[in-house]
Amino acid sequence: MVSMVVVAVFLLQGALFKPPQAAAFKVFPADGSLTHQQITEAAFLRKMAEVCRDEAAARGREFTLPINNKLTATDVQRACSNSYSTLLKISTFSLAISQTSISNAAVDRKQFSTAHHFDNEDFKNGRDLITKGIAAVKVSMKQGRYLSARSSLGAACHTLQDFYSHSNWMELGSTAPFSPLIRSELPLNNLAGSNTKTCKSCVGKDCSDNILQEVLQQKILTSGYFSILLSTKPGGKCSHGGLFDRTSYRDPTGGINKDDISSSHGFLHQRAAEMAINATIELLEDIRVATGNVAFLRLMGLNQTSVLAFVFDTTGSMSNNIAEAKTVTFSIIDSRRGTSEEPSEYILVPFNDQGFGPLMKTENADKFKELINLLSASDGSNPGMCLSGLQLTLTEAPPSSDIFVFTDASVKDTELKSAVEAMMQITKSTVTFLLTNSISSRSQQNVSLSRLLSQSDIQMYRDLAHISGGQTIEVTNSTLSQGTAVIMDVIAADLVTVLYIERSPAIAENVSFVVDPSLSNVTVYVTGDSPVFTLYSPTGLSQSSSVANGPLGNILTVGNLKRLKIRSDNQRGEWKISISATSSYTLKVIGQSAVDVLIYFVEIIEGGHGDSWAQSFTRPFIGRNATLFVSVTGGVSVTVTDVLLVEASGSDVVNGTIKAVGVTDFLVNVDRIPEGAFVVQLKGLLNDSSSTGRFQRQSPIQYKGSRITITAQSQNIAQPGVPFSLNFTVTSNTTGGNYTIRARTDLGFSVSFPRYLILVAGGSAQGSVTLTAPSDTESGTDFRLTIEAEAPGSSDLNYAIVQLTVSTANAIFSGFYSLYICLSFSCFCFVSHFV
Ligand SMILES: *[C@@H]1O[C@H](CO)[C@@H](O)[C@H](O)[C@H]1NC(C)=O
Ligand SMILES: *[C@@H]1O[C@H](CO)[C@@H](O)[C@H](O)[C@H]1NC(C)=O
Ligand SMILES: *[C@@H]1O[C@H](CO)[C@@H](O)[C@H](O)[C@H]1NC(C)=O
Ligand SMILES: *[C@@H]1O[C@H](CO)[C@@H](O)[C@H](O)[C@H]1NC(C)=O
Ligand SMILES: *[C@@H]1O[C@H](CO)[C@@H](O)[C@H](O)[C@H]1NC(C)=O
Ligand SMILES: *[C@@H]1O[C@H](CO)[C@@H](O)[C@H](O)[C@H]1NC(C)=O
Ligand SMILES: *[C@@H]1O[C@H](CO)[C@@H](O)[C@H](O)[C@H]1NC(C)=O
Ligand SMILES: *[C@@H]1O[C@H](CO)[C@@H](O)[C@H](O)[C@H]1NC(C)=O
Ligand SMILES: *[C@@H]1O[C@H](CO)[C@@H](O)[C@H](O)[C@H]1NC(C)=O
Ligand SMILES: *[C@@H]1O[C@H](CO)[C@@H](O)[C@H](O)[C@H]1NC(C)=O
Ligand SMILES: *[C@@H]1O[C@H](CO)[C@@H](O)[C@H](O)[C@H]1NC(C)=O
Repeated sequence: MVSMVVVAVFLLQGALFKPPQAAAFKVFPADGSLTHQQITEAAFLRKMAEVCRDEAAARGREFTLPINNKLTATDVQRACSNSYSTLLKISTFSLAISQTSISNAAVDRKQFSTAHHFDNEDFKNGRDLITKGIAAVKVSMKQGRYLSARSSLGAACHTLQDFYSHSNWMELGSTAPFSPLIRSELPLNNLAGSNTKTCKSCVGKDCSDNILQEVLQQKILTSGYFSILLSTKPGGKCSHGGLFDRTSYRDPTGGINKDDISSSHGFLHQRAAEMAINATIELLEDIRVATGNVAFLRLMGLNQTSVLAFVFDTTGSMSNNIAEAKTVTFSIIDSRRGTSEEPSEYILVPFNDQGFGPLMKTENADKFKELINLLSASDGSNPGMCLSGLQLTLTEAPPSSDIFVFTDASVKDTELKSAVEAMMQITKSTVTFLLTNSISSRSQQNVSLSRLLSQSDIQMYRDLAHISGGQTIEVTNSTLSQGTAVIMDVIAADLVTVLYIERSPAIAENVSFVVDPSLSNVTVYVTGDSPVFTLYSPTGLSQSSSVANGPLGNILTVGNLKRLKIRSDNQRGEWKISISATSSYTLKVIGQSAVDVLIYFVEIIEGGHGDSWAQSFTRPFIGRNATLFVSVTGGVSVTVTDVLLVEASGSDVVNGTIKAVGVTDFLVNVDRIPEGAFVVQLKGLLNDSSSTGRFQRQSPIQYKGSRITITAQSQNIAQPGVPFSLNFTVTSNTTGGNYTIRARTDLGFSVSFPRYLILVAGGSAQGSVTLTAPSDTESGTDFRLTIEAEAPGSSDLNYAIVQLTVSTANAIFSGFYSLYICLSFSCFCFVSHFV
């Protein structure tokens, strides 16, 4: 077991091995074969279409889908919106499909048994994996953790789909999916016995007739053996087939897999893939029936609800503003009530100069207002535990939440800054700071806040806001209420970032941005003490920052922020903004659009038949090349022309090399990672008939590289109430010294770990994390363990996230093992032995 772990680490770090051919539906087929991703997407679309057709029938509404071509996400979203008489969002629907597909890779990046691919007639264990996976999806949905649910769903789908490629189910002439794979109470009948011969050798390269007649006649179920060891296959058994499956060189030679159209049984590829779609639909139906339509729609991202979180400073000096802050939050809550954008959950976390918490959660808006009303300012006037409160919120709130921090003071717990930054990048939650003027009681309402909080405090809030894609709004008691409008903008639906730059120190420059046909409600924000700007429209109109109500729109000033909501007519085309300032400023352009980008750093694994990749849960390494996966959501046809890593406050730009790997999916190679924090900018063309033209988007969050690497490998299954250990290695490419270590789980399990590790420059050190899931943790609960290492003096930080599952069942399968590293939809088996 240990030797396998070591090999896996090697592969992930350096792709030292050339792993053999993929043992599954392909990742980048060159010949029109279907991939796991396409199979999964097709199943999502068809299942949703069915659900919405039934809904329409139940409500006596029309239900129509375009019949001409292939079903698209946009078609289904439109039809479903009609069935439910409510606008269901395309952006989150595409996101859910992508997440299910991508998290497939993340979950699969562990060691695997043959069960995950239904190789070697390992049917019982394969079925166990699927039924446990389905149970895990249901548990996560019940807990409201839809990202986890999609993660488990992706993995279960992978195994289920592989059955139709690797077994002889199709060769048996089956016309429906094999239901016992998703229902553990049904018997697995007619499995080939261990001594049953199932195949004869192929005739030359022709394998169309290699399954034995008696197996076909008696409808005996078998699957191909797959290994790089010749000796693995018992006599008379079928092989998987393919160049790297050594068992297929041994009598009976050849294979039976249907991974692509050139596989041993490639003539059945299309039908096997179709059956895999039907089987995936059956799996989705099982989940829908068990969890209900409302939850199912959420799983599909079609009724995604948002979380609104407030982090409140209750230190004494805030008492002057707390009443006003309450008014602001109440008006935000009320404005969303009964609308399709009503948050599904509210979170409140107070902090003061003594402590922070507890975190309070509720789904009820009135209850939430009561909780806010109960807040009162405590004594004290010292710096507050702001980052502790924020860290708790980031940990507990679902990913991509909108978090608002109200404070008037400097920060006591500054040592948490880099940890909070890392959490922001991990969760992709947006944090907006409302800094209120603590000396408003002295009626100095015209005094810039900068003069009250130290410049370094304000800079820290600004840095954190920028990292998360949020803003820092500096207001006084009397202007706090105007902040409401900005908060409303932030929590609007389908928000996309067109451009976001920060300049410190400021320079005079002209910046242009493109407004594409899919964008609406385009808004320009400029923050800073003194920026002066003029906006130029594509049609030649212009408006300067001193004109509150001009030809291009209204400018609202809130403290240090100016917001220009561009009038709805004539927005399309290239805009220019000419801006200058004496001190730092930020410029942000957002709008509403279904067309957005998903950006992930990935690790590339070179394989025998082309590359494969897996999402990387760590900061990219500075000084080395890197690869990003970029997916354009919104169901449009696009050409991407530029993907750039742009240093946020420097001038470095790295231009990526783009390779299309799907209609709206791209792999982008960059030859290095910028030294400073950076954003990802994307430019391209929309090719749809309804919306043609140039478009641009930017990652809402900032990224950072690191010279520290953290690697961890484990069994990935923890048992409730039983301590579970995992080793990790920290390697430094920068200074040596005393590295601070932190570890936590997103479910707050108790975790023990070394508080520090001593590294020599360029060296590495090993540590061990032990965690215990409470004994009442439901079996099937997924969680994430984050391990952080911070260099001396906070000069660098990196983190690694490990996905784990709590399960009462012992996950160790006995018998034959192969080590699979599964990346995306393709698995490589490169070590196999008996245990
Ligand atoms: C999949 O299901 C559809 C609809 O029930 C059916 O028409 C089709 O034949 C099935 N495909 C296969 C390969 O069985
Ligand atoms: C969407 O979620 C809300 C809140 O739970 C629920 O009231 C509504 O019925 C859901 N809409 C649909 C179409 O399921
Ligand atoms: C803050 O503003 C609110 C409403 O504008 C007002 O009621 C309150 O008295 C103000 N507080 C201070 C300390 O000025
Ligand atoms: C606030 O300051 C600006 C310039 O700094 C000045 O023009 C304005 O009159 C001041 N307003 C008040 C209410 O003092
Ligand atoms: C920005 O554009 C304006 C008008 O086109 C021009 O006058 C100005 O020189 C430009 N400024 C810079 C810094 O390029
Ligand atoms: C633009 O924003 C307004 C509210 O500010 C909203 O009513 C409208 O629906 C938005 N437009 C679009 C296309 O979403
Ligand atoms: C990235 O770097 C590795 C090792 O330094 C090299 O083998 C690989 O070819 C590079 N990839 C690209 C796309 O440049
Ligand atoms: C990035 O590279 C592409 C292809 O070489 C080129 O067309 C494009 O102009 C470059 N973009 C920038 C901003 O340098
Ligand atoms: C962790 O490492 C130690 C020694 O380095 C080893 O004894 C132990 O078995 C490892 N634990 C795991 C879970 O791999
Ligand atoms: C490393 O730093 C921690 C506190 O940050 C300290 O407790 C520990 O003694 C240091 N270790 C060494 C070997 O200097
Ligand atoms: C850091 O990494 C670079 C490139 O991988 C290597 O050349 C250099 O020697 C490393 N430096 C240290 C201190 O490990």
